[in-house]
Amino acid sequence: MKTGRLILLTATALVMIGLDSCGTNKAKEMVTTEDFGSFEGKEVFLYTLTNKQGDIIKLTNYGATIVEISVPDRDGNKANVTFGYDSFDGYLNGDLYFGKVVGQYANRIAKGKFTLDDVEYTLALNNGPNTLHGGPTGWHSRVWTAEVLKNTDYPAVKFTYNKPDMEEGYPGNVVAEVVYTWTDDNEIIMDYKVTTDRRTVLNITNHAYFNLHGAGVGDILDHEVLIRASAFTPVDSTLIPTGELRPVEGTPFDFRTPHLVGERIGEEYDQLVLGGGYDHNFVLDNVEQVDAEVYDPSTGRVLQVITDQPGVQLYTGNFLNGTQTGRGGKVYQYRSGLCLETQHYPDSPNQASFPSVILTPEEPFLTSTTYKFGVR
Ligand code: GAL
Repeated sequence: MKTGRLILLTATALVMIGLDSCGTNKAKEMVTTEDFGSFEGKEVFLYTLTNKQGDIIKLTNYGATIVEISVPDRDGNKANVTFGYDSFDGYLNGDLYFGKVVGQYANRIAKGKFTLDDVEYTLALNNGPNTLHGGPTGWHSRVWTAEVLKNTDYPAVKFTYNKPDMEEGYPGNVVAEVVYTWTDDNEIIMDYKVTTDRRTVLNITNHAYFNLHGAGVGDILDHEVLIRASAFTPVDSTLIPTGELRPVEGTPFDFRTPHLVGERIGEEYDQLVLGGGYDHNFVLDNVEQVDAEVYDPSTGRVLQVITDQPGVQLYTGNFLNGTQTGRGGKVYQYRSGLCLETQHYPDSPNQASFPSVILTPEEPFLTSTTYKFGVR
């Protein structure tokens, strides 16, 4: 019995070692790099990560961006389910943050002002009276340095951006890192680490748009959404939170059980009218493994979102208007994509009751979000 078990254990260990070294070698080979363009004298690359299932994602170091996610439907037919452009020019001309990492402060800061340690900071206004997504030349519009990681179990690329003190008005020499890992279970794991040499404010997210039919194929009103959030942060007419944490109970914002996006989006509910649809931060319960889920009944594709961030912005593509032509010549129409931007709450630097977004030299900000794709 004991001997039998030992043999079994040894055999298992050998298989695991074999798999591990095989996986490690493969991980290296499974990232290919090609030229994508250049910007401000820096080279921009397109990375293709292929997992053992043969499914791929594409990334670029311009804005540390997800360019493509090609995953099967329930019949095995693959399609790209995220918004992106075929060429680097698309990224230079597009301004809707497709797949980008957004910082130094994702989402809005009211009137482009905040006070930290008795000093008032003024930011550029790029969204009516407010600052949106780190300002006009935020982290989404920067060339990040890139490193294809070696000796990893899965294909992985690390992007780093060194933000100089006071760029876009934010204090601190800030170093932002994001590692994208593409696992054999079709998970994109995004591990972020951000440090500063001076107290500052930070909110970082990925701004991928999803359409589980395939990007550019119909709208997302027939997608079923689940968000494990008991409250959300209502906004004013400029989409700045009022400070209220409103229970979702009895409102069209109750996605604690799955609902189609289109089921209640047209209701005359104050927040849907102000937001032009869903464009709100949900206060995550953070109690279960999966924080949010999107399901497309027609293709069977499922997206699960797993995060340690306290909030997620559900944005239903209300500002899309068919002016953007994406990969494969697909045009992105009104409400043809949705975002689930895991984040701290909008305008937190001006909202004392919201969780703190102060980054200090003593403590790096570490956070992780996973987008996991499957079928049902
Ligand atoms: C979202 C934001 C929307 C819109 C969009 C970009 O994160 O909530 O209001 O600005 O980005 O078009």
